[in-house]
Amino acid sequence: MATTIRKAIFPAAGLGTRFLPATKASPKEMLPIVDTPLIQYGVEECVRCGIQEFIIITGKNKRAIEDHFDIAFELEEKLKSTGKQKMLEVINKLQEIKFAYIRQREALGLGHAILCAKPFVKDEPFVVILSDDLLDPDSTVLKEMMSIYEQKKSPVIAVEDVPRADVQRYGIIDGKMHDGVYEISDLVEKPKPENAPSTKGIIGRYILTPDIFDILEKQKPGAGGEIQLTDALRTLVKKRPIYGYDIKGRRYDAGDKLGYLKATVDFALRNKELAADFRKFLIERVKTL
Ligand code: G1P
Repeated sequence: MATTIRKAIFPAAGLGTRFLPATKASPKEMLPIVDTPLIQYGVEECVRCGIQEFIIITGKNKRAIEDHFDIAFELEEKLKSTGKQKMLEVINKLQEIKFAYIRQREALGLGHAILCAKPFVKDEPFVVILSDDLLDPDSTVLKEMMSIYEQKKSPVIAVEDVPRADVQRYGIIDGKMHDGVYEISDLVEKPKPENAPSTKGIIGRYILTPDIFDILEKQKPGAGGEIQLTDALRTLVKKRPIYGYDIKGRRYDAGDKLGYLKATVDFALRNKELAADFRKFLIERVKTL
């Protein structure tokens, strides 16, 4: 698929409070699922869709992300001299990719984090990935969203049905399904269950257009006192269509302890080296519950 989208923004400046103490000094984006950090799954998802340029919005205590995607000279030499070719391939997998890092000095919210990328994105459409929303490793969600974007040339955001009791953890859309996609009429960030216009929650995959930046520049703080992307999209939808893609396949909220554990179990069961033994362990373990 020829794509006009070449850039992806990864907001990674959040404090990760749901995962303390693990995230006190290390980024939540580096939490591993089996053997790969959360952020790498997101990067690989984009690479599968032809994206080659990554803009990572970092903050305090996020140096490990830069190191992770950098060349690890000493480690490479050691692996070479000890004949660990397979491991060398594993760590060199993403070496062709370009990464740029922007530091968000204050955690002012997701909308503000995206705005920090404006000078790098310029006037192109771009993808936003929230790496704690983890998708199946063979997910085609982003690919489907890109083809909707190619047809409509307007923003596309991923949505999923969530329990009504959980709507206050998400941005919620209002809209009508037409030809398999939602035509969004309104969006609200983290509503109370009784005020939610639907139970379609926004999932951390967005294809946005650069006109969002002008809105973000003027955006006042919203839910939680933060500059919210959802609020800026709410202004944008009054000016141009925004589409919602109902995702297929599993999505894990890996920024939440229970979601993280579920992802770990499912990814381990798909891992060639571990699956058989881990499955055996789980079956035995479940018998004792
Ligand atoms: C962010 C967005 C929210 C979205 C969610 C998806 O919230 O603000 O609209 O539904 O990601 O994970 P956060 O989880 O950062 O509070």
